[in-house]
Order: sequence, then C-alpha cells, then structure tokens
Amino acid sequence: MELFEKYNRPGPRYTSYPPATEFHSEFGISNYIEAIQASNSDDPQNIALYVHIPFCTQQCHYCGCNTFIGGSLDQIKRYLGYLKQEIENVSQYIDKNRQVTQIHWGGGTPNSIAMKEIASVMDLFRSKFTLAENCEVAIECSPAYLKRPQVEALAEMGFNRISLGIQDFHEKVLNAVNRKPSLLPIEELLEIIRENGFGSVNFDLIYGLPLQNIDSFGENLDRILELKPDRVATFSYAHVPWAMPNQKALDIYRFPSPDEKMAMLKLALKRLTEGGYVSIGMDHYALPTDSLAIALKDHKLHRNFQGYCTAETTGQVYAFGASAISQMRGAYAQNVRGMEDYCQAIEKDGYAVFRGFKLTENQIICRNVINEIMCNGRVDFDELGKNYGKSGSEILQVCQFSEEKVAEFIEDDLMTFDGNLLKVTPTGMLVVRVIAMAFDPELKVAENRFSKTV
Ligand SMILES: C[S@@+](CC[C@H](N)C(=O)[O-])C[C@H]1O[C@@H](n2cnc3c(N)ncnc32)[C@H](O)[C@@H]1O
Ligand code: SF4
Repeated sequence: MELFEKYNRPGPRYTSYPPATEFHSEFGISNYIEAIQASNSDDPQNIALYVHIPFCTQQCHYCGCNTFIGGSLDQIKRYLGYLKQEIENVSQYIDKNRQVTQIHWGGGTPNSIAMKEIASVMDLFRSKFTLAENCEVAIECSPAYLKRPQVEALAEMGFNRISLGIQDFHEKVLNAVNRKPSLLPIEELLEIIRENGFGSVNFDLIYGLPLQNIDSFGENLDRILELKPDRVATFSYAHVPWAMPNQKALDIYRFPSPDEKMAMLKLALKRLTEGGYVSIGMDHYALPTDSLAIALKDHKLHRNFQGYCTAETTGQVYAFGASAISQMRGAYAQNVRGMEDYCQAIEKDGYAVFRGFKLTENQIICRNVINEIMCNGRVDFDELGKNYGKSGSEILQVCQFSEEKVAEFIEDDLMTFDGNLLKVTPTGMLVVRVIAMAFDPELKVAENRFSKTV
C-alpha cells in the first residue's frame, strides 16, 4: 500500500472539467442564458437542480464550505426571496419537456432554516419545472438541528435522501472544532429517518481533524458498521487557511500527521469494505443494495458538483443561490459567493453569475473521458467516440494521450490499456484522480492551488 504515498500528488478533484480554478469573469449573465438555451437544443437531457443555503448557526473551524454564520430571520427571508426570483428568471429559459430527475439542497446547513421556507421553494420548483415521478430529492443536514418533526416535514415535501454531517462521533473532537453533536442519539435519528421512508441515508466523516488518532478513527468506523447507513463519505480534511481563514482557529491543536492520515484512509478502506461496503471512487462507500453501488457495477455512475450520482441525466445541473455552479452541456456558470453580494446581484440584474467557462468541443470530449475514468474506471474509446463522430484514436489525440503518461500506472497494476479499452483496477480506483490527470491536456499543477489527494 505504499501506492497511496507514491500517488499522493496535488491535482484537481475534477468535480468539473476544466476545474473551477479556470473559470473567468468574462463569462457573464448573457453567456449563461445562451448556454441554457443551447443545452435545450443541443442536448435536451433531463436535469438536476441545486439549491445553496449558506446559513449555519455556528462556525465549524475546519469548514471549507461557503457559509454565512448566524443569519437573522430577516436575512434568511430576504435571501430566500432573491433565491425564488433567480429560480423564476432562470426557469423561463429551460424547456419544460425536460424532466427534473434530481434536486439537491446543499450548504451551509439547509436544515437550519424553517421547514416552511424549504417547502415554499419546493412548491416553486413544482410550478416552474416538470419533476420526474421518481425524482431523487436530497438534503444535507446537520444532525444538531434534526428532530422528528423536521424529518417528517422533509418527507412530506418529497425528500427521499438525506446526508448527515457526522464528521466524528467523539464529543472531544467536535468541541475542538466548535461543532455541536447530534441532538438525538444517532440510532434514534436513523430510525426516524427510515420510518419516514427515506430510501438512502449518507453519513459524512472527516479524517485529519485535531485530536483524532488512528484508534479514535477506528471507533468512528465501528459506529458506522453498527449503524449501517446506506452511504458513507470519508473526507480527507482539506486545510487551506489561506482561502478559509476560519481554519486558523485550529492552529492551537496538533493535527494528525500525514502518515496518521494515510493510516486512517487505509483503515477506512479495509474496515468498510470488509464490513460489506463497496468502495466508490476514493472517498465514498455504499452498501451493495444502494443505487450508487448498482450504478458502479453497471458502469453507469456519474458525477457532478454534488458528488456521485446515478441518474443517466444528471450531467446538467441548474444551480441557485450564493456560490452555486450550474453545469450545462457546453458551459459552467457560477454565482457570486457572498450572501449579501448575491442578494444585491439578483436585485440589480435578476441573475448573479460572476464567472464561468464555455467549453470547446475538445474540452467537452475530455470532460467525458475524465468523468468515465473517475466514476466507472473504464473507457471504451471507440464507443465513446461514436457520440462525437470520432474514432477511439482521435479521442485519445484530443486528450493528448501518450503511452508514457500511463506507463507507471500499468507497471504498478493500477490500470490496463489495450489501445482502446482502459480499465482501472480496484487498487487504481483509490488513486483514480492521478490517472484522470493523464487524460487532461490542460493539466496545470501548482502545490498551493490544489490540496493533495489525502
Ligand atoms: C455542507 S457540509 C454538510 C451539511 C452541514 N453543514 C453539516 O456540517 O452537517 C458538507 C460536508 O463537507 C465536509 N467538509 C467541510 N469542510 C471540510 C474540509 N475543510 N475538509 C474536508 N471536508 C470538509 C464535511 O464532511 C461536511 O459534512
Ligand atoms: S461544516 Fe456544515 S455546519 Fe459546519 S460551518 Fe460548514 S457548512 Fe456549516
């Protein structure tokens, strides 16, 4: 397993291609509207919707998300008013024949706002879009603010997936990072969630936080194996205090060393896979009965800014709220990050796009190749080329592929390649981001721009 160490290299996470670091401010509102219209005609797939709720009641010191701490009821109401305006404005350009197959509420802490506010946005979605009958409706929640009535209200509104930010089961660690523990015992909360018909429950854990060590992390994994959520995400703590000054508050603590972090990653992999979970990419796990594991088996896994997904059609995401990123066939568009800036932008222009990226046809092809590697660990280049009227070797040329770039991966048994079919081995899937980098013709790696894999 020295492979982890060898391939622990800085690089993009490929939640988008090109990475968000390439987005630029020359891409504005008119480009966004053009891209939506082009998606309606060039690739009228079903769509996903994303809503960003930046509000949190308390600042977790480790947090790397776009948040607004301690918003008043007035601020929340005002934000939601602008959010609805944005939804109305954008929805007028989206073809109503396109069905919504996924709705994702992220943050921030979406469950820190009143349930009736969430319901009013869901009602607006139902009036402005065509929701598919089996639409996946997911929400990220902090268990510190979840009780039976909230879970029941979410189920009533049509939510069928929930992700709980557990991070660590030890109060000592949660105290150090300024985070409240779950309001209810997790067993009880899980039971309430299941009673209310949620088809999938995810737990987020972070490794690399202060006061964690390999033993305490092992205890976290014991708890996971007892509770058996359908999905588990084990995130490597990304310490980027230059971008996230709130993380500087953790400087008084000792962090687990890189070696300890590596040991935690390996332990998670060993314990969770031995305990019946399927490893999905680098840091996600799912029970074999979960739709993610089934999609992986069928080579039908996808990925968007919200993480891994299964629906064939979630490649196009229309995103609302501060910092939200929309992903269309040929472009990305990102809204301004600050809560206040967002409200002002919508007030002034009706839209809040401040940067984005229009992809060339070649970049669209590379994105497809990188997605297939990252999600399914498999690319049949001739097959993929058919979507673009190109041969497999032409696709490889577009990616500026050369045998040297993958020679060490083949030697280390991370992948096989017969000139057309690329297959990533199970070990290779653990460092898949490094393999994807070999198919990125525009790869730019600077130590301080990207966090390492682990
Ligand atoms: C928006 S939060 C989840 C919902 C809710 N705010 C909560 O904390 O429970 C998304 C997830 O990102 C992860 N996360 C946040 N900051 C991180 C960091 N600096 N490094 C790694 N993971 C991080 C956490 O696991 C968190 O659950
Ligand atoms: S981890 Fe979650 S609750 Fe904590 S500050 Fe970040 S978004 Fe808010």
